[in-house]
Amino acid sequence: MINVFQPTLGEAEVAAVAEVFAGGWLGRGARTDAFEAAFAAHLGVDRPRLRSISCCTEGMFLAMELLGLGEGDEVILPTISFVGAGNAVAACGATPVFCDVDRRTLNATVEDIEAALTPRTRAILLIHYGGVPAPIAEIAALARDRHVRLIEDSACSIASFVDGRACGTFGDIGVWSFDAMKILVSGGDGGMLYVADPELAARTEGLTYLGLETRSGLAGSASSDRWWEFEISSFARRSIINDVTSAIGLVQLERLPEFLQRRRVVHARYDVALRHLDWLETPPEPAPGARSSYYFYWLQLDPSLRDRLARFLLDRGIYSTFRYYPLHLVSLYGSRASLPNAEAAAQRTLCIPLHQGLTDEDVDSVIDGIGAFGRTLGLAA
Ligand SMILES: Cc1ncc(COP(=O)(O)O)c(C=O)c1O
Repeated sequence: MINVFQPTLGEAEVAAVAEVFAGGWLGRGARTDAFEAAFAAHLGVDRPRLRSISCCTEGMFLAMELLGLGEGDEVILPTISFVGAGNAVAACGATPVFCDVDRRTLNATVEDIEAALTPRTRAILLIHYGGVPAPIAEIAALARDRHVRLIEDSACSIASFVDGRACGTFGDIGVWSFDAMKILVSGGDGGMLYVADPELAARTEGLTYLGLETRSGLAGSASSDRWWEFEISSFARRSIINDVTSAIGLVQLERLPEFLQRRRVVHARYDVALRHLDWLETPPEPAPGARSSYYFYWLQLDPSLRDRLARFLLDRGIYSTFRYYPLHLVSLYGSRASLPNAEAAAQRTLCIPLHQGLTDEDVDSVIDGIGAFGRTLGLAA
């Protein structure tokens, strides 16, 4: 089976985990500190603004809390977003206002967001679809002009930059995912939270660890002789990662350039082989100055063919999928929006295998499978 997404883990990760086991301390500690510092350097942000978290979904829930969003507030998000984004907004009591996206990039445009703005809009929760940056500088400027907060779900865009600035760092808050299907994995789950405002960032330590404001467990203790006493500043959850996770993440971060290079090559091979097929469209190029993470490779084709192609590939042992089913069509959100581009894209788009573990033979199999499908149906080359 050729997977659509797949992590790459090897001896270096195993050795890093073995070292943590040998050290006897598995919990949050030096490895996690080092992972946060290395990730801050990767993004080009100050270390205190970054905090590791249990997963990206939790990061979006935390973002709602940090920004004080709730009842009566509206949060705009592209309907082509991960379900955790919609849940984070709805669970805090705010109203998710789903906006349309560009038909080809599946990213929200400035116009899409402007069309969804109302006097009740308090925040925008943006995704960079497939790792290709949305027009983030323009959207950040719009958010500033309208006094609206900007949160970036950067789960797809771990190595996406616009004019040298990392996606996820343009707004008030950015979140990343290291779950099992991401480019960089930290074992099974993990994430990172960036908070631009230093005062707000200082709150993340307590907010991700039971409301305790210091790590030692001595917070608020009446006397340092009684290290079991404490005070809390909020009724917070426990959203931290541990040194096993961080040890894997550290190795993966070092390997990230190698992963990206392979993904770039696979992406380019698909482009060359598939671009000339006039019954499908390949992904558009990123805008000038924008660098992709190459997280998805998506084809767009007539809706009558899309599902048949998926089935044809599956029968050849090639998995494909569509990310992300439009949230305005999910009944629990109660949206009555009509978002024609997203609805059309959801019928026409198929993500095909793209990961650094694909061999040249795998890539050839995918290309051959798509070609064979076209020939079977007598479609023009
Ligand atoms: C765009 C996007 N955002 C957020 C998430 C959630 O990440 P996590 O699994 O770390 O909660 C995912 C996971 O698939 C995702 O694809």
